[in-house]
Amino acid sequence: MRKPEYPIIPSSEITPESVYLNRRQFMKLSAAVGATTLLAACGVKPAPASIDAAQSATGATDELGDPANSYDDITHYNNYYEFTTNKEGVAVLAEGFPTSPWQVEVSGLVNHPRTYDIDDLRAFPQEERIYRLRCVEGWSMVIPWTGFPLSSLLSEVDPMTSAKYVKFTTKIDDEHMPGLESPFFPWPYTEGLRLDEAMNDLALLVTGLYGKELLPQNGAPIRLAVPWKYGFKSVKSIIRIELVEEKPNTLWNSIAPREYGFYSNVNPEVPHPRWSQATERRIGEDRRRETLMFNGYEGQVSSLYAGMNLISNY
Ligand code: MTE
Repeated sequence: MRKPEYPIIPSSEITPESVYLNRRQFMKLSAAVGATTLLAACGVKPAPASIDAAQSATGATDELGDPANSYDDITHYNNYYEFTTNKEGVAVLAEGFPTSPWQVEVSGLVNHPRTYDIDDLRAFPQEERIYRLRCVEGWSMVIPWTGFPLSSLLSEVDPMTSAKYVKFTTKIDDEHMPGLESPFFPWPYTEGLRLDEAMNDLALLVTGLYGKELLPQNGAPIRLAVPWKYGFKSVKSIIRIELVEEKPNTLWNSIAPREYGFYSNVNPEVPHPRWSQATERRIGEDRRRETLMFNGYEGQVSSLYAGMNLISNY
């Protein structure tokens, strides 16, 4: 078996892991990798400083006026643990990952369950959305996605009134995804949203970027973009979308519930247990910039959380 790769954090940043990891996972992790190794949903290697964020092929900017990252940044600096925990290594390992044929089952508490072929999903009216992606680890990018609102798909299958949450399950392909050999992660990668979050117009099912078909390293053939939440909620290579009544288990939440909450809304005022979330580094920039509440999408999403305590509901 290949040596498991885990992100390593300098010992100066380490707080006892047992405080954060649930006990069973902690025992497994300790046995597998020893005490100096920690996980982070977005890895811990510093982002490359040399990439020029202003090299956007189209000159596209987000609504705040910041330029999109280059196609090269977006396709060569990735988190995709099914392949590897090394961000610069994903593109090469994911090359040739079979994305066709591909089907997405939409099921559970819906009146019209349906299994969609990927071409059915590409037939939904597609639009370009330039979104910020803020990784929980403290780096960010601006990405011109192509896709369609998740709400269009959910409306088509017609959720029952008992449906309260949406659960996403992603692909397991032992032949092509070497990272699945890691005994530490409870594959498959799963995520979830509350139904009203999923119905928010910003939640996008993504089929492309920079006007091109999505590449495997970015989650081809279909992934989610939830721009007001930390990047790990934006799951890649979706194969199942289920409407459920109870809050679903998610991969990161089950490994380290104190570190990766179900909501995981970008919030500069709620630090990760091991680091501040007040600032971030845009890939291609050297300075750190202030992190914005809900990643700058407060106007569109804050009403979803009216009256909620965003510190306890992290
Ligand atoms: N989806 C799957 N299936 N597996 C993953 O490891 N990583 C997440 C998210 N979606 C991940 C995933 C994390 S931590 C981030 S920050 C984003 O994908 C990164 O997306 P990008 O590589 O397209 O920038």
